[in-house]
Amino acid sequence: MSRKILVLPGDGIGPEITAEAVKILNACRDAGLDITLEEGLVGGAGFEAFGEPLPAETLDKAKAADAILLGAVGGPQWDKLEDISKRPEKGLLGLRKNLNLFGNLRPALLYPQLAEASSLKPEVVSGLDIMIVRELTGGIYFGQPRGIEEREGQRVGFNTYVYSESEIERIGRVAFEMARKRNGRLCSVDKANVLEVTMLWREVMERLAADYPDVELSHMYVDNAAMQLVRAPKQFDVIVTGNMFGDILSDAAAMLTGSIGMLPSASLNESGQGMYEPCHGSAPDIAGQGLANPLATILSVAMMLRYTLNETALAERIERAVGSVLDQGLRTADIAYEGTRKVTTAEMGDAVLEAFRAQR
Ligand code: NAD
Ligand code: IPM
Ligand code: MN
Repeated sequence: MSRKILVLPGDGIGPEITAEAVKILNACRDAGLDITLEEGLVGGAGFEAFGEPLPAETLDKAKAADAILLGAVGGPQWDKLEDISKRPEKGLLGLRKNLNLFGNLRPALLYPQLAEASSLKPEVVSGLDIMIVRELTGGIYFGQPRGIEEREGQRVGFNTYVYSESEIERIGRVAFEMARKRNGRLCSVDKANVLEVTMLWREVMERLAADYPDVELSHMYVDNAAMQLVRAPKQFDVIVTGNMFGDILSDAAAMLTGSIGMLPSASLNESGQGMYEPCHGSAPDIAGQGLANPLATILSVAMMLRYTLNETALAERIERAVGSVLDQGLRTADIAYEGTRKVTTAEMGDAVLEAFRAQR
């Protein structure tokens, strides 16, 4: 049966990078993969067309899709919207929440060819392979009450950091299973020295550990984890953490791999349906100039093939194609350095396409 992929380019560099990833999806179809592609509007693009960052039509298409490929949302032109429910980011958050995409996988993998592009010394990052498992539909991003209101003569802003045991347990199981398939080490990152919600988080992770005797569980406070990620990142195998800590730590981890433009992601629900997107944003500072690195989005397609479509061989073929263009010395500006050849977004996409097709 043909599987449905919904493509949501979004804003800023979103359309440029998804166009390159769609080339690869089409090549997968040419190679025999039975998929149909559809497009939709989300974020600022949804707001401009329908007055909503997550138009009903887009949500319907998303629910009906097996997998979604999303570019990025947001931009300065929407930052001042009075009604915050109309902000582009609400479109993305609404998709995650409505589809129950609680399990966010963010693999920080260093391609050996990019050791020189990392902001850390090559010996600190060479061989780096970390999987960050971020809870995506709870925590402080969604907790109630939230808002800005008048209290005792001044305005106060407030959010609620809340996790239930069942929310912690289900993301914990994703992470333990992931660690089991990798190197058997799981580090749970929290702030259990201060925040009750993460005291509970730690307790639940401890309890789960009994079901995974083959996985070595450790705990780390988030401030130390941020430091350890830039001091000695190879100590980590799988990291599991809440929504906001995961957001922040994954951007830091991205830089270890050379650029935020290299970090793909998968966001999964219990039925295996997934949304796939680069971890970076809409990069308004470079939008429309052919400067954006499309590899995080292309590698997100590989994750889609692996985690939703169960097409591991095609996923690996994409990953090898990326390796091959890096071998050729091709680099978008964010990962370029002396001795490499600077290319545009589309040139990079075309090179990956060619390397993909050249394989059998
Ligand atoms: P950003 O990730 O968009 O950009 C941060 C920096 O990284 C910028 O200098 C940008 O040029 C660079 N960068 C990002 N992606 C790149 C790529 N593929 N190739 C080369 N360089 C790249 O983060 P920001 O500037 O904080 O946010 C910009 C907008 O994006 C905001 O509206 C924010 O809300 C939104 N955002 C969206 C997502 C998403 O859609 N998943 C994620 C993060 C931020
Ligand atoms: C990400 C982004 C989003 C997040 C924003 C745009 C809502 O930063 O996907 O990492 O904070 O989760
Ligand atoms: Mn982020």
